[in-house]
This record gives sequence, structure tokens and C-alpha cells, in this order.
Amino acid sequence: MTRKSNKAHKVLIVDDSTSTLEVIQRNLTHAGLDAYICSSVRDAVRFLDESTIDIVITDFKMPEQNGLELIKHIRDNCADIEIIMITGHPDIEDAVQAIKDGADDYLVKPFTDTELLDAVQRMVEKLGNRRRAAGTQTPAKSFGIIGESEKMQHVFHRIEKAATTDATVLVAGDSGTGKEMVARAIHYNSKRRREPFVPVNCTAIPDTLLESELFGHMKGAFTGAKENRNGFFQIADGGTLFLDEIGDASLNMQSKLLRVLQNKEIRPVGSDRIQHVNTRIIAATHKNLLGLVKSGTFREDLYYRLNVIDVAVPELSERGDDILSLVNYFAQKYAREMNCPVPAFSDNVLTALKSYAWPGNVRELENLIQRLVVIVDADMIRTRDLPESMRFNVNTGSENRLRLEDVVADHIVKILAMTSGNKTQAAKILDIDRKTLNTRLKKIGHGD
Ligand SMILES: Nc1ncnc2c1ncn2[C@@H]1O[C@H](COP(=O)(O)OP(=O)(O)OP(=O)(O)O)[C@@H](O)[C@H]1O
Ligand SMILES: [Mg+2]
Repeated sequence: MTRKSNKAHKVLIVDDSTSTLEVIQRNLTHAGLDAYICSSVRDAVRFLDESTIDIVITDFKMPEQNGLELIKHIRDNCADIEIIMITGHPDIEDAVQAIKDGADDYLVKPFTDTELLDAVQRMVEKLGNRRRAAGTQTPAKSFGIIGESEKMQHVFHRIEKAATTDATVLVAGDSGTGKEMVARAIHYNSKRRREPFVPVNCTAIPDTLLESELFGHMKGAFTGAKENRNGFFQIADGGTLFLDEIGDASLNMQSKLLRVLQNKEIRPVGSDRIQHVNTRIIAATHKNLLGLVKSGTFREDLYYRLNVIDVAVPELSERGDDILSLVNYFAQKYAREMNCPVPAFSDNVLTALKSYAWPGNVRELENLIQRLVVIVDADMIRTRDLPESMRFNVNTGSENRLRLEDVVADHIVKILAMTSGNKTQAAKILDIDRKTLNTRLKKIGHGD
């Protein structure tokens, strides 16, 4: 095998014998593969959960769980992995069983280095053929979500995994990190994609309307119930219900949700008939739910029902150069929307953007770039165009936007950004006429 052709392939070796692990790892590394090791099935399952592996080589006999259990786990959870089973001479029937259970090949101990490398090479070729056929040489899809950082790759893998199942998902992350984007990506890549994705903000439903909003009501169930109405669970039947801000759900709502998750049944207000619903739940929160469980404001049983698959969306400041990719992405997006040329960013601006803390995460970055595209008339965006809070660590000269006139100008610009540059709408919000707005814009250097 040449070093080059196999460079990208990752192999996980699972064996309870340290010396076997070392020998195989050394051989595979020499052949140019990335070789990882785990000494038990339990460690291997955890490792596979966190990483993308192409080939697994596993021993059959191990003290706690044996190789067959690992094979079953892989076949249930990671379709695209090739498996080679290692077995001793007396256990040849195990190899037969392993192949039935989804192993792709087996090696009988003791085997030579050549036999090992040949078996791995066959798997590499098989993988290559399959991925070419599927048109997926790069395994991590990004679902229209921008990000090359390792942390985001991890998120993409979780999305991929979640999309293949019907399991409940809990998406956790600070505000503006992209939780809803993740939830949509899961839904639109799942087999439910043709059915509705229904977002519901748990804080927005008053407790008095809770049951009716969630489960619907019958005509005449209460004053004002003029006709039968479906609740969110019926609307999302067959599809996905996105429960946003689940950490803020009242205890009343929590107990109602728990019951549906347990029974998959609902009863509309005013009806004596139980309805079966097939609604997948994806919940999101910016709060630490486990902390809420500890302090008694979130039900532990509900927490575990929701947290079957968890996706942790990282803060923007933890994503390294993704910040720059997002700057480019949003600059292009809003320039296209505004029908204007895509601006460039000075090196100082890029440095400032990279070192800023981004408390509002991607949403804050998106709003800023939109605003800059709308207001800056020059080809190049410079530090003086940035808000004060982002300029403290770069050389900004003696600028200081505290004069009343500057505050007014900044406000106008903000409203314009909010309306995507629509002056009529901006003038309306500012309660001035369009002519006055134009005059003001000219004065601050943004007239047309
Ligand atoms: N990685 C990304 N690539 C492109 N756009 C993104 C990305 N992450 C977030 N966005 C955009 O940022 C905005 C915020 O994303 P989203 O609404 O999914 O975040 P959120 O975590 O649900 O926020 P909040 O906590 O405020 O509800 C959206 O306009 C979304 O399109
Ligand atoms: Mg959101």
C-alpha cells in the first residue's frame, strides 16, 4: 500500500491486549493510515460517537463485551464503516456469525502483516467504490451551515446521525449560535422531510391556553372555541415539532410534554377521544438544563426523555477561522440582497472581528455584516466603520462616537440595517419623512 492513497483513511483497532493493539497500530501507521486504538467495546462505542472512522478492526474475545456487540452497535449507528473481525482458530464459527451480523471480513489469529494489510486494502477499495457511487468523497455534509472548525464538524456528524433516527434531540447552545438551523437540518435530512417542521417557542404560550395550543380543541370546548382546531402536535403529525426555549417551559407544560413523549397520545380539549400522534420532538435551549434539573425547575424524567441525542452547538468565539468564513458568507449574501458590490474588509477589521468575544454569536455577526454592507459606501470596510466595542484592541485613531450627532447617525444606520436598506420603512420607524432621512444620510456620507 502506498502512503499517499490511504492517507485520509481512519482505522480504529479494538482489542483488550495492549501488545496486539501496538503491533497493528504500528503496521497500519507505516502503511500511511491513521490508526486509533481502544481496549474495550465500551471505549470504542464512545470513540465512534465522537469521531469519524472508516474501518474498524475488532477482536472477538474481550472480557466485558465481545466483538459481536460492537458490530451490532456499528451496524445500528454508523452505516458507512467497514469492519474486520479478528478471531482465534477454535472460534471460527464466531467469524461466520460475525459476517452474518455485519462484519465485512475476518482475520484468523495468528496472521501475518501482509494478511492484515491486504484485508485493510480490500476495505479501502470497497469504501472508495461505495463513496464514489454515492458521490460522497467527503463524509461530513454541512447542511448549508457554514463552518470548517473541528467543533462544527462534530455538530455536522451529530446532525447526520440524528437525521437517520426518530429519536428525540436536545440542541443546546448560547443564543444566536444556530440552534434552529441545526434543528431544521435534522428535520430536512430525515425521512420526515416532506412533512411539516413546526417551531414553537415554549415561552410564548400562556399557561391558560397551553393544552389547546399543544393538543387542539373541539368546537364549544370553551368560550371562544368556535370550531375544532388542531394543536401543534397534530399540525406536526408525521413531521417534527421544534420546542424552542424548552428550559423556560412551565412545570405544567413539562408534565404535559412528558406524557406525550411517554404515550405518543394526546387528547384535544373538550374531546373524550384519545388521538395517536407520530410527532418527532427536537428541543432547544440556551440554558443549562442539567443545572435546572438540579435546582428543581426542570423535571429530571423529561430531561432524560429529551436528551436521547444531544447536540452541543459551540459559541462563535470557539470556532476559530469560521468567523472569517461567516464574514465572507454574510457579506456576499447581503451584497446580493442589496444588489451592491461585495465589500472587502481591511486586515485590521478582520483582526478585530476575530478577537471580539461575540456574546450574540452568529446572529450578532450576521447583523453586523448586514449593517456594514448597507451603510458603508466604500469598497473597503475599515475599523472606523466598526462599533466602538469591537475597536478597543485595534488602532482606531482618535475617533469617538459619543457626540449627539453621532448617536443619531448610528441610530439611523441601525434602523436602515434592520429594514434591509428600505428607506420608506426606515423613515416610518424613525417617524421622519423620506426627504429628511435622505438629507440626514447625505450628511453622514451615505446618501444616494
Ligand atoms: N453556521 C452558520 N452558517 C450560516 N448561518 C448561520 C450559522 N449559524 C447561524 N446562522 C444564522 O444566524 C442566525 C441565528 O441562527 P439561529 O436562529 O439558528 O440561532 P439560535 O441559536 O436559534 O438563536 P436564538 O438563541 O437567538 O434563538 C440565523 O439567521 C441563521 O441563519
Ligand atoms: Mg432560536
